[in-house]
Amino acid sequence: MTHPTDFNDRMLSLGLARVSEAAALASATLIGRGDEKAADQAAVNAMREQLNKLDIRGVVVIGEGERDEAPMLYIGEEVGNGEGPEVDIALDPLEGTTLTAKDMPNALTVIAMGPRGSMLHAPDVYMDKLAIGPGYRPGVVTLDMSPAERVSALAAAKGCSTKDITVCVLERPRHEQMIAELRTTGCAIRLITDGDVAGVMHCAEPTTGIDMYMGSGGAPEGVLAAAALKCMGGQIFGRLIFRNEDEKARAKEHGITNFDRVYTRDDMVTQHVIFAATGVTDGSILPGIKSTPTHLTAETILMRSKTGSVRRMTYVNPR
Ligand code: FBP
Repeated sequence: MTHPTDFNDRMLSLGLARVSEAAALASATLIGRGDEKAADQAAVNAMREQLNKLDIRGVVVIGEGERDEAPMLYIGEEVGNGEGPEVDIALDPLEGTTLTAKDMPNALTVIAMGPRGSMLHAPDVYMDKLAIGPGYRPGVVTLDMSPAERVSALAAAKGCSTKDITVCVLERPRHEQMIAELRTTGCAIRLITDGDVAGVMHCAEPTTGIDMYMGSGGAPEGVLAAAALKCMGGQIFGRLIFRNEDEKARAKEHGITNFDRVYTRDDMVTQHVIFAATGVTDGSILPGIKSTPTHLTAETILMRSKTGSVRRMTYVNPR
């Protein structure tokens, strides 16, 4: 029999979808309005309000920032109604604030939940990331390989030419050298302007045509992406990048002492989790919010790592 304080992922998952939906619906009113901050704030408010209705004793481990820089959904904030299981929450109320402000594809709301102590408390620094979808032997590609070596290794494992591999990369000046090296292999590169949680999830969703994700982005987003792949299948590796001593000090406060460690998916998310994401703008994984004079429609992907189940839920609500 399930005890009320057990992490009952099956029962909690629908609540998590509601949290994700509410954030997406709130930020959708600000799609294309050129105001990143307002779009993010709308998502934060809605996510927090819904989270506090859930029967959980939750702590935000990946959130909007440190307590002194984020008034809501900050790291360490207690959420939920204070009854039920002790859980860790990783969230990004609006992953792709600029995408939303500019009405560009693949903005999502993202949230993951697991038992207390199940998720890496990643500081807000960069992380070097490498991800592939399911079906490959562990370590077929590694962070220690060069970008070109990764493409060759994946092509060999897939039984295809390097020309048939597509790599997703954040378009940033810091990635120019990596992109130039990838070009030498003849692979295709899908450049994205933001949103590397979606970028990583692309690898596990065959319809996107993406085989591999690589490059640096936010470490908190790395943990969220690891939670997604724990449900969808696939591998992700991450190594924290420190630009100065202050960032190292912040990592230490989060309990991190080995600064060179390569984290695998299961190092970042150590127990079974549930994961929900809702499309804000149209994207290759989820359609965005649709609005008619009478109704609003949101689509959410809701996943449980324990069962590997993936639900796509369409929520239609009168305005
Ligand atoms: P926002 O949610 O703040 O819009 O961040 C989006 C994002 O593109 C992440 O997906 C990514 O990890 C990070 O920003 C990359 O950081 P930077 O823009 O500094 O390269």
